[in-house]
Amino acid sequence: MKQLHKQTNKDEEMQSSASAQYSPKSQKHHRSLPRSINYLLREQRLLFILIGIFIGSIFFIIQPTLSHLSPPDSHPAYLSTHRDVSYSAAAVGRVPVAIGSRRLRIVVTGGAGFVGSHLVDKLIGRGNEVIVIDNFFTGRKENLVHLFGNPRFELIRHDVVEPILLEVDQIYHLACPASPVHYKYNPVKTIISFFFSFICMIYKTNVMGTLNMLGLAKRIGARFLLTSTSEVYGDPLEHPQKETYWGNVNPIGERSCYDEGKRTAETLTMDYHRGAGVEVRIARIFNTYGPRMCLDDGRVVSNFVAQAIRKQPLTVYGDGKQTRSFQYVSDLVHGLVALMDGEHVGPFNLGNPGEFTMLELAQVVKETIDSSATIEYKPNTADDPHMRKPDISKAKELLNWEPKVPLREGLPLMVNDFRNRILNEDEGKGMK
Ligand SMILES: NC(=O)c1ccc[n+]([C@@H]2O[C@H](COP(=O)([O-])OP(=O)(O)OC[C@H]3O[C@@H](n4cnc5c(N)ncnc54)[C@H](O)[C@@H]3O)[C@@H](O)[C@H]2O)c1
Repeated sequence: MKQLHKQTNKDEEMQSSASAQYSPKSQKHHRSLPRSINYLLREQRLLFILIGIFIGSIFFIIQPTLSHLSPPDSHPAYLSTHRDVSYSAAAVGRVPVAIGSRRLRIVVTGGAGFVGSHLVDKLIGRGNEVIVIDNFFTGRKENLVHLFGNPRFELIRHDVVEPILLEVDQIYHLACPASPVHYKYNPVKTIISFFFSFICMIYKTNVMGTLNMLGLAKRIGARFLLTSTSEVYGDPLEHPQKETYWGNVNPIGERSCYDEGKRTAETLTMDYHRGAGVEVRIARIFNTYGPRMCLDDGRVVSNFVAQAIRKQPLTVYGDGKQTRSFQYVSDLVHGLVALMDGEHVGPFNLGNPGEFTMLELAQVVKETIDSSATIEYKPNTADDPHMRKPDISKAKELLNWEPKVPLREGLPLMVNDFRNRILNEDEGKGMK
């Protein structure tokens, strides 16, 4: 009996070891399956899983349809980032945007300023990738806010007196406080000073900033454009001024940090061109006006327009017979792009040859904004040039460029912008 029992046990052991050898998992599975089902059915877990699967499926089904419904160009740029990306992804089968035709990548230093922000609009508008470098000394984020969120636009807060490394094809170098109030207020940084960083910001910006950007252009093989100024002609003894004229500049006056800073920047630019083979372009810009100019920055057009809107007398320095030429900003932007894309180094005068005395300008402002505005005379500032008028025959011939907007048409185009900003008193409270 004992033997029979042993035999039975042995048989059972053999059976169980055989079954353990050939189907261990199925045995375990059979035992645990009801428990898993039990687990899923408890506390409505299965219901939640099914709802999750349902929501996920709905999202993947409708997402491509939504992408097709949102064309990229029909929305303001700062709202269109996601739409742009999903639209192109759907259109080209989710290939990353950068793959395909290579876009020109361009740096604009000082791109948050008056001229810079209009230039950036133009470059973005023609499909370039644009990186703005600005320290917001005189520039404002408001000038670029409509581009925030555009995948082809980047903004870097950076002072050009410090080096920076980027991979780009072209460099438009505009960074420099350009108005008389700013460069008289903070002259050292306008030209250069290793020792008094705050006093001579304008010179420092013109020299160190230009050196850094030329160094970058040399390193990465980019084309470099310098925005110089008609101030390099000083108080000119030749009229109108041709690019061949060397100027009449006081090297130790109040304006020298700006004038000499720009002259040094031109020198450095040509040295990098001759000595290091950097592709360069030089623009000599004459007085330019338009929307987004700084209010109260001491430039005559912005002064008169702001004073007329505020019902203040228009301030004329000296007898008001000194002359200037006034160029609308869109004309300048076309000129800068034509110069950068063309084959000629320059320098090129970019300005409107229409010449006005300060009193004539005051009259145009009165006609445009407030005919009852009065004029207040004040003593003239030091080294104020007596006359300024560009000879633009070189730009006409070699760049096929000339300005199109006369003063009487251009001035009204900036009045609304100034009126809104003065009414909202946004200056000084803006995003910095
Ligand atoms: N507007 C004109 O009538 C005129 C005339 C002649 C030359 N320019 C030249 O054109 C350029 C642009 O002038 P704008 O009228 O637009 O002046 P702006 O003052 O409006 O713009 C200059 C920009 O440069 C930035 N900037 C200044 N210093 C900087 C620094 N160290 N690092 C980085 N960013 C800095 C400012 O924040 C500002 O955004 C300047 O180089 C100026 O000299 C202008």
